[in-house]
Amino acid sequence: MPVITNRLTRMLNIRHPIISAPMAFAAGGALAAAVSAAGGLGLIGGGYGDSTWLEEQFDLAAGQRVGVGFITWSLRKSPSLLTDVLKRKPVAVMLSFGDPRPFVAEIRNAGALVMCQCQNIDHVWDAIDVGADIVVAQGAEAGGHGALRGALSFVPEAADLLAAHSPGAVLVAAGGIADGRGLAAALMLGAEGALIGTRLWAAAEALVHRRHHEAIVDATGDDTIRTTVVDIARQIPWPRGFTARVRRNAFTQRWHDHEALLEQSVAVEGPRYRQAFAEGDPDNTGVWFGEAAGLIGAIEPAFDVVEKIATDAARRLADHAGIFGAP
Ligand SMILES: Cc1cc2nc3c(=O)[nH]c(=O)nc-3n(C[C@H](O)[C@H](O)[C@H](O)COP(=O)(O)O)c2cc1C
Repeated sequence: MPVITNRLTRMLNIRHPIISAPMAFAAGGALAAAVSAAGGLGLIGGGYGDSTWLEEQFDLAAGQRVGVGFITWSLRKSPSLLTDVLKRKPVAVMLSFGDPRPFVAEIRNAGALVMCQCQNIDHVWDAIDVGADIVVAQGAEAGGHGALRGALSFVPEAADLLAAHSPGAVLVAAGGIADGRGLAAALMLGAEGALIGTRLWAAAEALVHRRHHEAIVDATGDDTIRTTVVDIARQIPWPRGFTARVRRNAFTQRWHDHEALLEQSVAVEGPRYRQAFAEGDPDNTGVWFGEAAGLIGAIEPAFDVVEKIATDAARRLADHAGIFGAP
């Protein structure tokens, strides 16, 4: 089996250049451990912060080297979460959606690598400024929260910036990567690995309701939308500029473009949203996946997903090395 070895695999001491996204609520210890066992690096989703849940998830991942990710603006409200999690010796801590500066020294002093997920060039400059070890360039195809840039131009633009101003940092691409083609393309764009969310949300170990898993298997890449209505319903005050990509369904059809009305009705609609989410209703709540949905045909163990993506990418890159004929 061919294996891709590069600066990312060496920096993280992993076999495959694949990192699982720290998906709030969905990426627990079992998923992270399975990704690490397969030769990638699994990240536990710190989400909006629940110290008991995080402790349980780190216990579930015991025996595997894993990392963790936080929503930076939310972490600012409860910074002790980071202090607690660093005691579990994560390999890396990813910060996304906010200024990383307040947290970088603590992460580094604890011996963990600093990862910054970026949605635009200003964010990449922030990552350069704090000396991030790993910079993740996230394209708008991504599931969950993100912003506007398409990965096809954002990833190489970020690669050029890092080459010029922070050559020691390693770039990773995120958004829409679900198979070997995506990983191979990310490497061609100047990244050295992929951060994968949606494809692993659709893994057996993800903390996702069975009916939501069924919905992704049926979906095409057209069936998602970037919106703020899921955050309005949950009353989670996301900063301007970030939206969430979720399944386009009855809930988004009803409220997208009617945000003010939803805000007025949130006392009723909020609990409705949360109940539908708990029940796995695919139509009346947020179903959190990205455009990569169109590349997913089955719910499989994370180990198999990681191995298939890595070996397929390596084979494709090796095959392409043979496309040049004699002049
Ligand atoms: C269900 C879900 C939840 C997510 N939650 C988070 C999160 O809590 N923190 C974060 O940094 N990114 C989060 N993301 C975004 C991922 O970090 C990543 O950028 C994205 O999943 C990559 O694109 P893909 O979904 O096409 O693979 C989430 C993504 C999904 C699908």
